[in-house]
Amino acid sequence: MAASQAVAITGAGRGIGRACALRLAARGWAVAVSDVNGEAAAAVAEEIRQGGGSAVSARLDVTDAEAARDWVDEVDRELGGLTGAVANAGIMRVQEFLDLTPAVWREVMSVNLDGTFYFVHPAAARMAARGRGSIVIIASASSRLPSFATNVYNTSKTALHGLTRVMALELGPLGVRVNAVSPGVVDTDMWELIDRKRAALLGKQPGEVLAEAVARIPLGRVETPQDVAKVVAYLLSDDSDYMTGQNISYDGGMVMP
Ligand SMILES: NC(=O)c1ccc[n+]([C@@H]2O[C@H](COP(=O)([O-])OP(=O)(O)OC[C@H]3O[C@@H](n4cnc5c(N)ncnc54)[C@H](O)[C@@H]3O)[C@@H](O)[C@H]2O)c1
Repeated sequence: MAASQAVAITGAGRGIGRACALRLAARGWAVAVSDVNGEAAAAVAEEIRQGGGSAVSARLDVTDAEAARDWVDEVDRELGGLTGAVANAGIMRVQEFLDLTPAVWREVMSVNLDGTFYFVHPAAARMAARGRGSIVIIASASSRLPSFATNVYNTSKTALHGLTRVMALELGPLGVRVNAVSPGVVDTDMWELIDRKRAALLGKQPGEVLAEAVARIPLGRVETPQDVAKVVAYLLSDDSDYMTGQNISYDGGMVMP
């Protein structure tokens, strides 16, 4: 399968990654969908093909550096050269700082930070060899706005800003752009977990924490996965071809830097 535009996305079996896959496919991109849940990834790829788009899928746990490199090499070949990559896979753990353990720290860092590096590094190498490409790293508003009991998650997302900047600096001269997107409160399974765990810690009712967070958003509504997919598609397109090294807040005005 060859296409002029090909993108690989991690953690795309549901939520934000899935929305990015569907939007990019609708715009004519050939999409390589991966997720640690291989069945979910396969279902998204099938949905794209049923809609007339072009997609392949694989089970990929981004904490496995070798598997990530192999998958990037495989889809780069199969899709005729990656021109886009979206590092989206991420996990959330909720506990107060004094209850944070080294095991939880390592678990979150290994997916959110190490896993992002394991994926974007081979993708960047492929793109640099051809002198063309755009990489989007999904960070989070929580990296700029510390929030209760999501300590290690926030830290991992802040580190992704650093990764974005150093990659942009070294890869810009090679024709590869690297930007981060920081969504706010997105209506996915991840926020369901945050709401439930924070409510338990704070003695609140289910739904209360989410409602309070949404009430603080100037644009007055929760963010959808499709909202995030719009800015990701923009960053992968030539409409943003003079932008690199940025961390784009896309959060309804939650964070105003
Ligand atoms: N939901 C939000 O409010 C929000 C806000 C800001 C940033 N984000 C970020 O957006 C990204 C997507 O989050 P979401 O809200 O869609 O969450 P989600 O939990 O709905 O989806 C995450 C996906 O990543 C996959 N995944 C988990 N561990 C993996 C691993 N080791 N390897 C490969 N895939 C793995 C899961 O199977 C799942 O399909 C994450 O990086 C998250 O941190 C989410």
